Amino acid sequence: MKTITVALGERAYPIAFCEGLISRAEPAHLEVLLERVGQSVFVVTNSTVAPLFLDGLLSKLSGKKCGYHCLPDGEQFKTLEQVEGIIGQLIEQGFTRDSTMIALGGGVVGDVAGFAAAIFQRGIPIIQIPTTLLSQVDSSVGGKTAVNHPLGKNMLGAFHQPSLVVIDVATLTSLNPREYAAGLAEIVKHAALADSDYFEWLEANIELIIERDLDCLAEMIAKSCQIKAEIVAEDETEQGRRGLLNLGHTFGHAIETLSGYGQVLHGEAVAIGLLMAADYSVRAGYIAQTVKTRLHALLSGFGLPVVAPPSLPVDLFKAAMARDKKATQAGMKLIVLQALGKAEILEDVDPAVLDETLADWLL
Ligand SMILES: NC(=O)c1ccc[n+]([C@@H]2O[C@H](COP(=O)([O-])OP(=O)(O)OC[C@H]3O[C@@H](n4cnc5c(N)ncnc54)[C@H](O)[C@@H]3O)[C@@H](O)[C@H]2O)c1
Repeated sequence: MKTITVALGERAYPIAFCEGLISRAEPAHLEVLLERVGQSVFVVTNSTVAPLFLDGLLSKLSGKKCGYHCLPDGEQFKTLEQVEGIIGQLIEQGFTRDSTMIALGGGVVGDVAGFAAAIFQRGIPIIQIPTTLLSQVDSSVGGKTAVNHPLGKNMLGAFHQPSLVVIDVATLTSLNPREYAAGLAEIVKHAALADSDYFEWLEANIELIIERDLDCLAEMIAKSCQIKAEIVAEDETEQGRRGLLNLGHTFGHAIETLSGYGQVLHGEAVAIGLLMAADYSVRAGYIAQTVKTRLHALLSGFGLPVVAPPSLPVDLFKAAMARDKKATQAGMKLIVLQALGKAEILEDVDPAVLDETLADWLL
């Protein structure tokens, strides 16, 4: 069984690749799970994922005190109210601070359950079992947990590292094609910012990736997790290098905000944002046009959008970029490409270059 370690000293944890865990579970898979679950375990999932995988998971936990809570499905339920609901169930069902929580689902379930685990009785361990591509390569690793506030996305949260991440690539076969492609955008981001060989590998394997060949997926997800794990281990609370993972996100969040949450998926907005960041990088003289062309070809090859939605006003777009939570009191930060496989955090954004980029993209 392949594992990758997120090297965070006393809080280090493995990302374990357990294909088929939920459907058949080999003894080695069960061992890795059961040795981190104490005597009582509480599973948080949602109404879409539960019918697919909940019974399979609970059957592997027989002999433990088990409880579960099913969230309604959707980003609109990533709220404090749902966190209170989880905590109410924990208390009513007699779970205590020596219990372990399991998040079974996509990034929304992972973020809500992660935040509930971070604050229930000042924190209980959480195991992430992500079931979307985006959550397998991004949100389940790194310990960021959050819920939305009516005035802003992810405004309430905590760093709470999981004790284990279990990735079962077989769960991805039921994911709808749009959600699957959205996860690929984060994968392209990892390659673009950290590893040109990985970028070439993605270009060479487009067909197998689209077909969801499980061996190919396992290799790809492991590579992306490795990149994220290394960056998180270096800068757990995003004081510096972890900011590189926001490549494409400042533009992307403005697209999400202005087009109305839910219209454009996060990964779709990231795909367009990656191209806008590459465009800024070309105009500022950091990278050659060929890098942007290859990025464009790979993203469109994966079926992701490569043009901004129509009618996004430039002034509102700039205001949304400035309000991005990655911005600090000192101003907007932009992640730019220095080469294929190398990115940098730019503190002094050139307003003229930004204006040219926006004018070209927001017609
Ligand atoms: N914590 C972090 O570091 C981090 C990083 C990136 C994104 N996020 C957050 O993650 C969320 C997005 O996550 P997401 O893209 O996984 O979306 P999601 O959790 O909404 O899942 C997408 C859809 O797929 C369904 N689904 C999940 N697994 C499935 C499966 N195996 N088969 C069929 N359907 C399945 C879900 O029920 C949902 O309808 C956002 O809230 C975002 O803010 C967090």
